Amino acid sequence: MKKLSAWLLASLLCMTGFSQNSQRPIAIIPEPVSLKTSEGSFVLTDAITLDAPNDKDLGLSIQLLTERLSKATGKKLTNISGSNATIGLKLNSTADAALGSEGYTLTVNQSGIRINANKPAGIYYGVQTLLQLMPKEIESSEPVNGVKWDIPFVQVTDYPRFGWRGIMFDVSRHFFSKQDVYRFIDNMSRYKLNLLHMHLTDDEGWRIEIKSLPKLTSIGAWNVKKEGYFGDMTPPAKDEPRNYGGFYTQDDIRDIVKYAQQRFINILPEIDVPGHSLATIAAYPELSCTPGADQYVVRSGEKIMNWGKSGFTAIVDNTLCPANEKVYEFLDKVVTEVAQLFPFEYIHMGGDECAKNFWEKSPQIKSMMQKEGLKTMEQVQSYFEKRLEKIVESKGKKFMGWDEILEGGLAPSAAVMSWRGMKGGIEAAKMKHDVVMSPSTFMYIDYMQGDPAIESRVYETLRLNKSYQFEPVPDGVDAKYIKGGQANLWTEQIFNMRYAEYMIWPRGFSLAETVWSPKEKKNWDNFYNKLGEHFKRFDIAEINYSPAVYEPIITVKKNNTDGKLSVELATEGKGVDIYYSFDNSFPDRFYPKYEKALQVPVDASQLKLVSYRGKEKVGRYITVSVEDLKKRAK
Ligand code: ACM
Repeated sequence: MKKLSAWLLASLLCMTGFSQNSQRPIAIIPEPVSLKTSEGSFVLTDAITLDAPNDKDLGLSIQLLTERLSKATGKKLTNISGSNATIGLKLNSTADAALGSEGYTLTVNQSGIRINANKPAGIYYGVQTLLQLMPKEIESSEPVNGVKWDIPFVQVTDYPRFGWRGIMFDVSRHFFSKQDVYRFIDNMSRYKLNLLHMHLTDDEGWRIEIKSLPKLTSIGAWNVKKEGYFGDMTPPAKDEPRNYGGFYTQDDIRDIVKYAQQRFINILPEIDVPGHSLATIAAYPELSCTPGADQYVVRSGEKIMNWGKSGFTAIVDNTLCPANEKVYEFLDKVVTEVAQLFPFEYIHMGGDECAKNFWEKSPQIKSMMQKEGLKTMEQVQSYFEKRLEKIVESKGKKFMGWDEILEGGLAPSAAVMSWRGMKGGIEAAKMKHDVVMSPSTFMYIDYMQGDPAIESRVYETLRLNKSYQFEPVPDGVDAKYIKGGQANLWTEQIFNMRYAEYMIWPRGFSLAETVWSPKEKKNWDNFYNKLGEHFKRFDIAEINYSPAVYEPIITVKKNNTDGKLSVELATEGKGVDIYYSFDNSFPDRFYPKYEKALQVPVDASQLKLVSYRGKEKVGRYITVSVEDLKKRAK
């Protein structure tokens, strides 16, 4: 009898998959609202069946499951209808209020996998969670043998904290192809991010076809290829070919919008005016207050602004002229076409870092100020923004801008994207305006994430640990005005897609957990422990990321009496050991381990560092010259 029941059990289990303990840690990012596990796991058999309703918006969820399963496991997924399918996707006939339009429940038990949601977006996010529960090899684009395709028994209920879970991609400073944008969207959607803000125009390039203004792309989309550090590039000679860059045709934009929509991602277009407009002025110089004053060209990384502690001025006039009626006619044309291309409710019209020094000297601006009773240059910009808001609204869209649009008086219904910290966002929310928080202090993912000795140098450093501390709703602010949070990937110093990925991940994980997970579920130690699993998945999926989180944070001190340097090393999380050398050789885990502040030997010329977790080398080599250490000494 015992034997018979064991046999019966075994054959039953063969038909449906079988349960046994999974050894893998569960490491879902972003952390779900509720995750209950129980002993055991479901193992996928060779014939996987799927039961899904016939709804075109589920297409991508089904495609994602089918592709990943067939590519990585070599198993076929067959559609059936009925409750005995391996995987069941179901849209609730009566909405479960707690789940909203993006939430889902996911159950994995002996009978299989069930994802329920009110709306297709919820099913899609449930599938993303399911994929994260599968062995990491599910990320492989070729069949992987010898893997037990098991999924731990779980009961997940999940929904987002914020409706706006964004990343800004600057496709102006460097142009990124349509395929790059697709890849960007795919990777965002893995982590349940739902808004792609495309920074489409800047001094370095106008990236969207505007049919009524062809010079924006025939002239404005092209500069001279330079490599090095932005702001320090040699000014191009007149005869250097202007063939670097590109733009999206209107068909490309429609394709991108559709691709994003299928993955439940909205696209927020940004046309950055009145500053950051050199590409526009190179195409249509009559839109500046200084036409004919210069031979305007699209910027190729040469210096065009002076930045100081107390402010900034433009060396080359890169601003549109608010006193020129042609500017509003131009903007009306642009906004008309942009509004038709992007279904999202908002258009972002920039407004940041507009230099005023050319306006200050302009007789046109002076007479406009008299006529309109404007006292300051900030009021001049505010006059411009208010007129622009009317144009945007006349096309049926809502107006958004960077927090500078608060200066000189905010347009009546403008939404504010707060980037200079949270201050602008707080002020706007108190004035009952909608706000998206994207403070540079926590969410500027163009900043370096590791030691400057091995990073591509840029304005500041923002470590993963700091990015994880982002909290979009400040104390004393009514949360209903905070639409959500966003990370910004400016690309002055990002020349290609591999590097863009390196900069996004893992700080994009911080963003995802901040804007999706309940505040009380955020926990740095837990998050830090999950990272390794995601890095392994990215290795298999060949998505680039930065390992800087495992690398040392270096602090140098100088002894006031003897002038000797000491070096303190810290790590962002637990369990990492740092090994070092001053003898110019590459350390490994058999070298001295950092225990306490290092005294720099008199004749040493460099310090070399490396990080390990146990026997695994997890960080890169960092070499800092003693010259550099001296400069860093406090
Ligand atoms: C900005 O970073 N200038 C919005």
